[in-house]
Amino acid sequence: MSRTPIISGNWKMNLNHFEAIQTVQKLHYSLPKEVHDSVDVSVHPPFTDIRSVQTVIEADDLDIILGAQHCHWEPTGAFTGEISPAFLAKLDVKLVICGHSERRDLFGETDEMVNRKVKAIFQHGMTPIMCCGESLAEREAGETEAKVLGQVAAGLEGLQAEQVASMVIAYEPIWAIGTGKTATADDAQAVCQAIRVAVAASFGADTAGAVRIQYGGSVKAGTTEELMAQPDVDGALVGGASLDPEEFSRIVQFAAG
Ligand code: PGA
Repeated sequence: MSRTPIISGNWKMNLNHFEAIQTVQKLHYSLPKEVHDSVDVSVHPPFTDIRSVQTVIEADDLDIILGAQHCHWEPTGAFTGEISPAFLAKLDVKLVICGHSERRDLFGETDEMVNRKVKAIFQHGMTPIMCCGESLAEREAGETEAKVLGQVAAGLEGLQAEQVASMVIAYEPIWAIGTGKTATADDAQAVCQAIRVAVAASFGADTAGAVRIQYGGSVKAGTTEELMAQPDVDGALVGGASLDPEEFSRIVQFAAG
């Protein structure tokens, strides 16, 4: 089954709304038309930028998918500072990252919370990019698969096969995020393959053949080609390198092949 590659820029808490507008415009115009046709490209700005980025994407008809970095599971209520998935959907957000390791480690998100968010994102007509990944200590202890597959099973619990087929899973080894260290292409492939095998066991071969799996962790233009050549790596979740539209554009172009 052929899967359209998907490259997502996770801007984290970087770029104010003026900078975000410029970045998304530069990114769009630096990509040749045929690349836009063959790769899905999303940006995930900070919440304060989303309305501005939505407006420019719609006004200039940019071929960039609008994303968010996380959300709450409830649509409204007494959750000071939280972000409603219903409000994101109103802003035409299509893809929402959930369970990023920074959310898990710094803000205490549990597997159960991630599962509730995944369901809420679907309920509001959007698509989750659900993150998973092991720490360095877990990798060194030989626990990578157990950790990652545990997170995947918990995050997908109770979903329909069609939902899983339509979503994105991002494998991001924590030790590779923002550190300049990347998993080797072979290591990334091994874990992405293990995720696909686990999805097949729970949701069937068709679902496993359709779900898109990204690798994330210090992805740069120079490492993209080898990663994308792996049969189970369908894209990348890019942090630091997505802040520079030229570097990000080169990553997207490598993903287009
Ligand atoms: P990085 O971040 O590319 O800066 O390592 C990736 C991520 O956290 O999604």
